[in-house]
Amino acid sequence: MTIKEKAGQMCQYVALEHYKHTKKLFNGKVPKNSDQYAFYPDLSIQEIKDMVVKGEIGSFLHAKDLNEVHELQQLAMKSRLKIPLLFGIDAIHGHAVVEGTTVYPTELSLSSTWNNNLLYEIAKETAQEVRATGMHWTFSPNVEVARDPRWGRTGETFGEDPFLVSQLGVAFTKGYQGNFGKDNILACAKHFVGGGEPFNGTNGAPIDVSERQLREIWFPPFKAQVDAGVYTFMAAHNEVSGIPAHANKFLLTDILRHEWNFKGFIVSDWDDIEHLHDIHHIAATKDEAVKLAVNAGIDMHMHGPGFLVPLCRMVKTGELSESVLNRAAGKILKAKFMLGLFENPYPDKTYARKVLRCEKHRKTALQAAREAIILLKNDGLLPLKNKKKIMITGPNANNERIVGDWVLKQPDENVITVYEGMKDVFDNCSVDYINSGESLRHPDNEKLKLPVAKASEYDAVIIVVGSNSLRYQDPEKTCGENIDRANINLPGNQLKLIKEIYAKNKNVVVVLVNGRPLGEPWIKENIPAVIEAWEPGAYGGQAIAEVLKGKINPSGKLTISIPYCSGQINYFYNHKPSSFFHPYRDIPSEPLWYFGYGLSYTTYRYSELNVPENAYINDTVTVSVNVTNTGNVSGDEIAQLYIRDNYSSATRPVKELKGYKRIHLNPGETKKVEFKLPPSAFAFYDINMNYIVEPGEFTIMTGSSSRDEDLLKKTLIMNNR
Ligand code: GLC
Repeated sequence: MTIKEKAGQMCQYVALEHYKHTKKLFNGKVPKNSDQYAFYPDLSIQEIKDMVVKGEIGSFLHAKDLNEVHELQQLAMKSRLKIPLLFGIDAIHGHAVVEGTTVYPTELSLSSTWNNNLLYEIAKETAQEVRATGMHWTFSPNVEVARDPRWGRTGETFGEDPFLVSQLGVAFTKGYQGNFGKDNILACAKHFVGGGEPFNGTNGAPIDVSERQLREIWFPPFKAQVDAGVYTFMAAHNEVSGIPAHANKFLLTDILRHEWNFKGFIVSDWDDIEHLHDIHHIAATKDEAVKLAVNAGIDMHMHGPGFLVPLCRMVKTGELSESVLNRAAGKILKAKFMLGLFENPYPDKTYARKVLRCEKHRKTALQAAREAIILLKNDGLLPLKNKKKIMITGPNANNERIVGDWVLKQPDENVITVYEGMKDVFDNCSVDYINSGESLRHPDNEKLKLPVAKASEYDAVIIVVGSNSLRYQDPEKTCGENIDRANINLPGNQLKLIKEIYAKNKNVVVVLVNGRPLGEPWIKENIPAVIEAWEPGAYGGQAIAEVLKGKINPSGKLTISIPYCSGQINYFYNHKPSSFFHPYRDIPSEPLWYFGYGLSYTTYRYSELNVPENAYINDTVTVSVNVTNTGNVSGDEIAQLYIRDNYSSATRPVKELKGYKRIHLNPGETKKVEFKLPPSAFAFYDINMNYIVEPGEFTIMTGSSSRDEDLLKKTLIMNNR
């Protein structure tokens, strides 16, 4: 391979239909500061096609469909070396940025199932749909630890706990990659690292953390990805303690490649090599930015021109070693070999028709929505029985906001809204939808009047509120990528709608459809029933209706704390002991809703917590607890296990999740749940940054949530061998 051919493998461009769509959408003007749309004003479509034939492009992202993939692969087959193209896409919760695919619940919603096997299946199905369209690589899982709900991308994560994020992220990656067969794709661990707690809550803002916190909170989910064999990483937008991730040799080479032995390749995030120059200002020129990024460990450039030419020039002048090309091109070519692209780079149209949004996948998406829905409060109003007339209203009641971010506009018939779900499930009573106005950013108080006026005529009122993450409604978005808010209250006039309806009818159920935690204490204090549905995907409307009716017994649990208000940020359950050394004077120090919390239509009792009094630092400790269904309906319970290192040479969280089990219990049934705790469950970075288990007293806790009142506790003494 020539220098240019090696460098060509490191170049990714947006696909041509995306280019054309963007150029039209922005009237030929390059979108400013967009992470979502791009075209190249100095390059024509034909010139890009010619670059493919010349081997100057190795990958595309955002291809529209398999027809475009086919056309571009045909061009690649005309190149000297006939190296096939690698197609990447944001298949974050299903292959949803392509039309006619299965749209599963978002990552935050899926995490509320605490169901590793389900997520593994969803990733497998997603991979099958991605490959069926001729694409090979998803920029997923997002395994950032989310600790600031002002951040619009919180809904893309598996929540705030490093252990749970690690477990669920691995389930996704193993489902995506499998054995790199014809139905498998490359996974991408992103964004490395620390974007989940931007210092001011805005996407890409700095984090400044100690190496201790990096290793204790931010690194574990990414290390778990490497151990699970993830083949690609994506660097984060943000700087980490002064060094932008894209120029951070400590992160990308010292930790990722040398300490963790990562064998795959690293892709930049959107324009983030250029941002070393024009945002972070650590490179005086864009060419200098290329050198910094490639030397730090970046292997592929997302996206467009401005990378190949300086890269080749610097290698030829000796400013850059050709070994960086060999490293990068070698990893990228290995991926293409593993995926079988050299044998067959083309998608199969008949296979795609069979696989995309097939019945099996649709059933999985519905099951996931059913398991993800969280019952936060129920004073007895739910499930709705013997109601003859139900009103449903609210800005998220009858549209596709339930699908969340990273979704292309899907055909209406492919998405079941909450109202449509209600009409179908509540087939024995009348369900009226009254439009209260759908805009969250420009609310219409006139439109509130009708549902308020009518409320008293109904046996119950369902008010569906929350946020709007829809990528194709950008001006209306209140959540999602680059849509960060300083407040975590309900946007617009939603609280006003709820209060005025509640004044007319006490039988109110508030259903939250939202992509980030929303803290509204008034709702918790006054409304008799509250459901957190997050963004439950294309079948979320049906699943919500089934929960409201009692056809499904809710079992979801929060994987992120919901703060009382934005002033309480950053609140997370695994905080240090001194975090609330003194309480707030003006608000409670407890969160509105706790990590791990979620109710059921039945009740469970935890008993017989069995913990050995003594153990040794190299032991695997077995803990068990009995869980009994003390109610009269069957249900799934997510039993959780937390530990605390009571005294340690460096401070430790008041509790840390170290195990969980989802179990099914019929009324009156008891099951013994067993947890195995390896030494790593007790290990931490001691005062000298050694990763060890210190002898001493630990508290072992099991129960239905992270709330102290929900936990049984026992002491374990850890001894030196
Ligand atoms: C965006 C996002 C990243 C995504 C990429 C490609 O900037 O940060 O998560 O995968 O661009 O769409």
